[in-house]
This record gives sequence, structure tokens and C-alpha cells, in this order.
Amino acid sequence: MEKEYAIRIADNCIRCGRCVKVCPSKIFVQEEPRGPVSLHHPQNCIVCGHCVAACPVDAVVHEAFPPERVHAADYAALPTPEQLELLLAVRRSNRVLTQRPVPQEMLDRIIAAADRAPTATNARQLGYTLVTEPAALRLISEYTLRVFGRIVRRLDNPIIRPLLRRVAPGIYRYVPVFKSMQRDYAAGKDRILRGATAVLLIHAPEESRFGAEDANLAYQNASLMAEALGVSQIYMGFVLTAVRQDKGRRLNELLGLRGRRICAVMALGMPEFRYPKYIDRDAPTVMRR
Ligand SMILES: Cc1cc2nc3c(=O)[nH]c(=O)nc-3n(C[C@H](O)[C@H](O)[C@H](O)COP(=O)(O)O)c2cc1C
Repeated sequence: MEKEYAIRIADNCIRCGRCVKVCPSKIFVQEEPRGPVSLHHPQNCIVCGHCVAACPVDAVVHEAFPPERVHAADYAALPTPEQLELLLAVRRSNRVLTQRPVPQEMLDRIIAAADRAPTATNARQLGYTLVTEPAALRLISEYTLRVFGRIVRRLDNPIIRPLLRRVAPGIYRYVPVFKSMQRDYAAGKDRILRGATAVLLIHAPEESRFGAEDANLAYQNASLMAEALGVSQIYMGFVLTAVRQDKGRRLNELLGLRGRRICAVMALGMPEFRYPKYIDRDAPTVMRR
């Protein structure tokens, strides 16, 4: 059962009605404008903190958000739209990484940024697994290549091949790619993690309906923080594909993630250089109705 938090309206309430307007669960009730605010079914609180953040006089007293967790928002200190546009434009999946580890303080900030992202119904059930041990990093690459190896062997099966080639020719495009990745790994070149010194896995409970959406929003927050810190990040689609193809869930077992769904995987490393340029993309296709 979800924890139920104590919530009350303090005497300094100015009856502005903001808590009533912002609460998605309709916990605050005001019978008439400027009337007293009362609480209605506080057990329905989703602990989003909107009431506390919107109150101009700190009159919403919420057990989950004691004063030390509430801060004045200085909007004048925000990045300008131009600064944000620049951050978005310079963010790249820079795959040229050094062996220099990403400082722990930076990794902490990247995870904290991820965890600032919204989650469906404020469920906040995402978990983060940070892998920095070289042996464990190798294990992720080798696991991914092993799963691909199994798929390639199946696709190469002389009985399956002619039929599948006809119904799903797209899959066969990847066969030479996987084979060359395996050859490169054997020769000491890891094209899965690409020399990353850290991997961040974002996971949700198996039964979570919006786990993937939550994780990808968290991912994007983290990727922008990484860019702001000068840390490189690369979305690990190959690892995620292996996880999805592997019915045995061996990566979950190896990382102690039983009952969790790995929804997003980020490789992190210190770049050898930062790109001196950014490029323009094609204008987005926008349909207006
Ligand atoms: C869902 C997804 C999966 C990806 N998987 C990989 C991957 O496995 N390996 C890799 O090197 N890059 C991967 N990328 C990075 C893309 O190739 C990259 O974002 C794209 O080429 C655009 O480059 P940019 O991120 O520098 O703008 C992935 C990106 C996304 C969004």
C-alpha cells in the first residue's frame, strides 16, 4: 500500500486558491472564492508537490515536503531560450571516448537530472543501475554480442533463411553488421559500449504501464545534463535490443534486476574532444490541422 502523508493548511493561508487549482487529485476544496481551504480525501494525494510549490506563503504543510525540501524558484537565473537552443544543438552522441573515468560527482548530477523528469501519475518507480566496474562493463558488451550471435545463427539456419528472407528482408541487413561487431570485439574494439567507462541503466517495475515512457524522459534529462557537464553519452539501442530479444532475461539476472524491466540504457564517457561545430538539421515535418 502507498504511504499516506499528513497534509494540512496552516493558519497563514491567504485563501488564494492556488493549491485548489493545481492539485491533479482535487484534494483541496474551496467552497467559494476567498473562502477557507479544506482537505478532501488526502489519501488520493500522488505526492507531486504542486500544492507546496504553488503556495506563495508556505501554508501547505505536507509531510513529504518539509521546509528543507522546498526552495525559492529564481526564474531570472534560468537558461535563456537561446542558451537552451544551443545546448540542444550541440548535444551529440560523441562516440570518441577516452579511458578517463567520468567523475563520480558528474555521474551523480546526471542521475539527479534524470530523476527530475516527470513520471506517469507521479509514480516515480524508476530505478537506476550505474555500472562502472570494467569487468561488469565487458559483461554488458559480451552479453549483447552473445544474444546477437544467437539471433544470427538462427537467421543463418538453412531451413529458416529462405523463408524469413522473403517475409522479413529488413532483418538480414543487420546480419553483416552483427558479424563485423563480433569480429571487431574479438580484435579488441568494442562497438557496443564504444569504450564507455560507465553505463546507466534505467529500469521500471515489470508491470509498470508507462515504464518505457518514464525512462526515456528521464534519459533525455540525463543526456542534456551530461552535455552541459562535458560528458559524452550514447543511447545503447543495441543493448536494449538484446535485452528485449533475450527471453531468459540474463542481463537482469547478472545485474540483480529481477522483476524490473530495463527501459533505457546510456553509455557515458569523457570525450577525446568536443565538436567545434554544430550542424543544422532538416526542418521538422509539422502537420497543422
Ligand atoms: C533509440 C536509440 C537507439 C540508439 N542506439 C545506438 C547504439 O546502440 N549505438 C550507438 O552508437 N548509437 C545509438 N544511438 C545514437 C544514434 O545513432 C544517434 O542519436 C543519431 O545518429 C543522431 O546523432 P546525435 O545523437 O549525435 O544527434 C541510438 C539513438 C537512439 C535514439
